[in-house]
Amino acid sequence: MSATLRLERVATTRDAAATRALAFELASVARPGDLVCLVGELGAGKTQFAKGFAAGLGVADVVSSPTFVLMAEYEGRLPLFHLDLYRLEDAADALAGGLLDDRQAAGVTIVEWAERLESALPAPRLDVVIDGTGDEPRRIALRTAHDAYRRYLEPGG
Ligand SMILES: Nc1ncnc2c1ncn2[C@@H]1O[C@H](COP(=O)(O)OP(=O)(O)O)[C@@H](O)[C@H]1O
Ligand SMILES: [Mg+2]
Repeated sequence: MSATLRLERVATTRDAAATRALAFELASVARPGDLVCLVGELGAGKTQFAKGFAAGLGVADVVSSPTFVLMAEYEGRLPLFHLDLYRLEDAADALAGGLLDDRQAAGVTIVEWAERLESALPAPRLDVVIDGTGDEPRRIALRTAHDAYRRYLEPGG
């Protein structure tokens, strides 16, 4: 399928539990090597989404923002690697060899503030763009330009 393929599915969530539930459901179609990029301003719900996704992978640990480490790793149905690129000055060096290494090929990588890597992001990925903060409902757009990620946009996989 063409590399310019662009697909989108949009959901609205009214509270954090609904955002976590959406992510939980999406995790059921996750495969080794997947890259999930979370885009949205501070307080949009990126970490809430990551928590729900982790729960959907069967991660038992509490997932929080990896503020003091670049990447946190969790044990689930697949290994989960959670990154937060908010302070990219620190992250840039660590990521000089690329966002995904061999270890991550065996698991799912979920990245907050992924847009800070801009052109360095690989094209095969799912983008999760969250609009809204505070008490507002969140508009969550799931987008991909890569055929392998269609399964995230089709309810039921
Ligand atoms: N629909 C919603 N989806 C996600 N979070 C929501 C929603 N409504 C309210 N919230 C609240 O917004 C905050 C989102 O925080 P967090 O996930 O840490 O944001 P980010 O990681 O994007 O900075 C949480 O306090 C959460 O309870
Ligand atoms: Mg966060």
